Amino acid sequence: MRTEGDSWDIQTSVGSTALFVAAARMLGGRADDAPAHDEFAQLFMRAAGGEWVELLEGRLAEHPLLTPDFGVPFQQHQIARTRYFDDYVSAATESGVRQVVILAAGLDSRAYRLAWPDGTVIYELDRPQVLEFKRDTLAEAGRKPRAERHEVAVDLREDWPKTLRDSGFDATAPTAWLVEGLLIYLTPDAQDRLFEAIASLSAPGSRVAIEQMDPLPEESVTAMTEDRDATDAAEWVGMIYNEPRTDSVDWFTARGWTGDRINLTDYISRLGGTPVVDGPHQQSLINLVTACRP
Ligand SMILES: C[S@@+](CC[C@H](N)C(=O)[O-])C[C@H]1O[C@@H](n2cnc3c(N)ncnc32)[C@H](O)[C@@H]1O
Repeated sequence: MRTEGDSWDIQTSVGSTALFVAAARMLGGRADDAPAHDEFAQLFMRAAGGEWVELLEGRLAEHPLLTPDFGVPFQQHQIARTRYFDDYVSAATESGVRQVVILAAGLDSRAYRLAWPDGTVIYELDRPQVLEFKRDTLAEAGRKPRAERHEVAVDLREDWPKTLRDSGFDATAPTAWLVEGLLIYLTPDAQDRLFEAIASLSAPGSRVAIEQMDPLPEESVTAMTEDRDATDAAEWVGMIYNEPRTDSVDWFTARGWTGDRINLTDYISRLGGTPVVDGPHQQSLINLVTACRP
């Protein structure tokens, strides 16, 4: 169960979800024709050791990320969302935005993986131990970011805008914000405060891309918590705030931004895939959202 002000590193609680989704990106992006590829994910898996190396090297026959009913649709979800946010930042930089803020960056490798125009500055926000693992892993592998990159060690439930400004963030310049795989780990109130902070730091021409998930139905929560073979699922349910929350398109459009959403299942179809509508991973609960401040 989560508690106010709880903390973690890359192997524990919410921090371990960064490793889990990076591994899903590795698996989901292996095919040449996958919608996106993340060649950095395997570096993190190797550095994390244990089950992650076994999974990487194909020595595990059983793992939550390999099951047909949860793991395979989850890989499909992760690689589709990677593509959505990759395209989002490309569109932002093509339109001239040069400041990017990745909230809850985790093991997001975009600063290293994507080609950025000269002058792009990227701020990556997460808990200090998560950023430390990422820094050490990439330094050890001799990898260098392809844009100016700043780590900002914060708790996104606290006063992170001050730390962001102190790190050099320019609130007068348009910004592209990324909120991928974060909101379910915040209470609905903390989410609203996060949106307030984003809006207050956004100059005209800014935009935000958000992954938003509707609450899991009660029967799914019960099934996940009572299934003795699915301890990972039960642990994950204990990490999220499975509560109704503000709709992000409504929140930003009420403040004069334009907003656009696509359901994950429709997005997967658009990419040429076949979405999975039934089973324990409910892709239809997820929406990918972009909002722009005129
Ligand atoms: C599922 S991972 C997503 C990471 C990355 N955005 C991605 O999609 O690969 C969730 C991340 O949110 C971060 N996170 C969750 N709550 C946070 C908080 N209150 N402050 C800072 N980081 C937080 C975790 O440390 C973790 O890296």
